[in-house]
Amino acid sequence: MSETSTAISNDASRASDRDIACLTARISASETLDERVRWIVQCVPGRIGFSTSLGIEDQAILHAIADCRADIDIFTIDTGRLFAETLDVLAASERRYGLKIRVLVPADNDVEAVVQRDGVLGFRSSVAARKACCHVRKVLPLRRGLANAAAWMTGVRREQTAGRAGVPFADWDADHGVIKLNPIADWSLAQLNAYVADNDIPVNDLHAKGFPSIGCQTCTRPIQPGEDIRAGRWWWEHEDGKECGLHNNSKRKVGAR
Ligand code: ADX
Ligand code: SF4
Repeated sequence: MSETSTAISNDASRASDRDIACLTARISASETLDERVRWIVQCVPGRIGFSTSLGIEDQAILHAIADCRADIDIFTIDTGRLFAETLDVLAASERRYGLKIRVLVPADNDVEAVVQRDGVLGFRSSVAARKACCHVRKVLPLRRGLANAAAWMTGVRREQTAGRAGVPFADWDADHGVIKLNPIADWSLAQLNAYVADNDIPVNDLHAKGFPSIGCQTCTRPIQPGEDIRAGRWWWEHEDGKECGLHNNSKRKVGAR
């Protein structure tokens, strides 16, 4: 990686198409995930928030962040419905890497209002009720996690769903007013598994038990051989493009800079 300074405007709200293109080019040209992380830190002036679900993708990114000692704000959203195994990964990762993962929780009055209105398992009654639950338990805490951030890093991969097939390395996220970075967008599952094995990265025990994608315990089940990797998420819903609202893939809007 060259030492050329590529820092973009330090007002993230003004990240331009050229800044995004520059980040994209740097990430694409990097040979390792460490290099990608280092470029991101060098290019983005201001706080970078990395939201981790503690799934295998995010554990790979966490490893690279720790390896580079990158100054990145690592946070997770504890929806109140996570698997115990997910909390085990959180604790194990903090021990392994000697860092703290900020834990965000939903506002208790928001959760109480939704449960009061829809019932404790109300999210199974309709897509709208499910999205309302995701909104208070995930989307609103994410918004707090990204407040005043310049960029948001995620573990989204193109291979995960048809709806994510076009996910870029870098883009302007008008919903949150940040540059959204997906440093392993192009990784295959085989590449990810190899990286995790080579680096002995701690991962959720549930991955080996048929859970390639892990969200809330109440909304995730193991998949059957041959099923789509996200088939176990909100399995009672049959519509395409099941998303919880964290990743709305809003397109860059003219004037939203
Ligand atoms: S989801 O939208 O369907 O729940 P998915 O599980 O594929 O998302 O994870 C994609 C990315 O969303 C993760 O790499 C992570 O950046 C973010 N994410 C998902 N769940 C959480 C969570 N509970 N806390 C923090 N970030 C999360
Ligand atoms: Fe609620 Fe399920 Fe969404 Fe978790 S995944 S926030 S329990 S609807």
